Amino acid sequence: MLTTAPRGTKDILPDTSGHWQYIEETAYTVCRTYGYSEIRTPVFEHTELFLRGIGETTDIVDKEMYTFTDRGERSITLRPENTAAVVRAFLEHKLYAGPQPTKLFYMGPMFRYDRPQAGRYRQFHQFGVEAIGSKGAAIDAEIIVLAVQFLRKLGLNELKLNINSVGCPQCRPVYRTRLQEFLKEKVTAMCGDCQSRFDRNPMRILDCKKEACTALSQGAPQMVDCLCDECQAHFSQLKDLLTAADVEFVLNPRLVRGLDYYTKTAFEIQYSPLGAQSAVCGGGRYDGLIEECGGQPTPGIGFAIGLERVLLALEKQNLLPQAKNDIDLYIAPLGENAQAPAFRLLCQLRQEGIACDMDFLNRSLKAQMKYANKYPAKFVAIIGEEEVQQNKVMLKNMETGEQQLIDMDTIQQQFKAERKG
Ligand code: HAM
Repeated sequence: MLTTAPRGTKDILPDTSGHWQYIEETAYTVCRTYGYSEIRTPVFEHTELFLRGIGETTDIVDKEMYTFTDRGERSITLRPENTAAVVRAFLEHKLYAGPQPTKLFYMGPMFRYDRPQAGRYRQFHQFGVEAIGSKGAAIDAEIIVLAVQFLRKLGLNELKLNINSVGCPQCRPVYRTRLQEFLKEKVTAMCGDCQSRFDRNPMRILDCKKEACTALSQGAPQMVDCLCDECQAHFSQLKDLLTAADVEFVLNPRLVRGLDYYTKTAFEIQYSPLGAQSAVCGGGRYDGLIEECGGQPTPGIGFAIGLERVLLALEKQNLLPQAKNDIDLYIAPLGENAQAPAFRLLCQLRQEGIACDMDFLNRSLKAQMKYANKYPAKFVAIIGEEEVQQNKVMLKNMETGEQQLIDMDTIQQQFKAERKG
């Protein structure tokens, strides 16, 4: 227990942290290009925010939240997603008073108590983007293109973008009634989850992955056929814009998404080689969420990408960069008297931005050379008794094997020159 991380969590160790930095830097670069600024919100929020925001009939709220009462008797939840928290921060800090739309992105851990498997964890990381304040389809297209460009920039090409429109409070109730009408005879043969969804959230039945339920819901009426004029126009504009941007998409009328706040556009990006957990990105429009959280009616749209899944996809395709731990110089002190001059040199060179390290285990010269090779280090500065007395170091070029005795006080300049040469 003491030496095992909780189920569904993962340590990110030095051999993979570079991969995470690579993905995160790519996200920063893409967001900068699109004019999105970073927002960092707490990893926990008042439970009420998620109950209201995500919706009480969703699996996330129903079964997956990490909720506890803190010492001040408040109900607190580790964020299962970040859209509701971003909206909370948008209202709390009156970001609507700034330039509009408010374009934000975030990266960080999310928490869901689900059954862990490859690509599904209890603590996982999302890169998410939210654009709040514009109702036009152009911002929907921008958000989708951003997600696609991020994934493509990493080298992932076998992407399938599914889009749908889930309507609005005007047209959805009409559809809901039609859907219930279609399902009412069939629902008793469906799984327990679908049976309870029938009254609470019948559209989620279309999203059930169980074979029997999928078969029974074949031929169900589709939301896209029941859209009001406004939703219809919005959806058709979005399709035109995606086509103009050369982004291929598939119309998927069964795409419902697992959060209640969606209106109009809903989308997912699948990377099928990942198998069961192939959704790398999910998002959509949430025009009612800001009002639900206590603000003025304000439209919004966003997505979140699961970074563990992106990492798995990049691993599968061999697209991850080689780890780079190499250093410019390894300092090899020999004996007690060499310790202080070696350490002084180490500190001076590091201040100059030269990547270097030294032996901290009193190893033999042979062992130190072996260690420096493993790093790998471009140069090794050997400091033995004699060098200490002469205030010099023996600088060895690890590539050519060349050695030269140089002045300790001038090593900075000489070393820099060696590096250039
Ligand atoms: P979501 O579809 O629940 O949407 O999650 C987005 C992505 O997070 C998924 O496509 C998946 O890649 C990743 N993900 C979700 N759960 C797990 C898990 N247990 N383990 C590993 N990865 C996971 C949202 O979270 C919305 N907030 C997205 C959004 C932003 N909509 C509008 N704005």
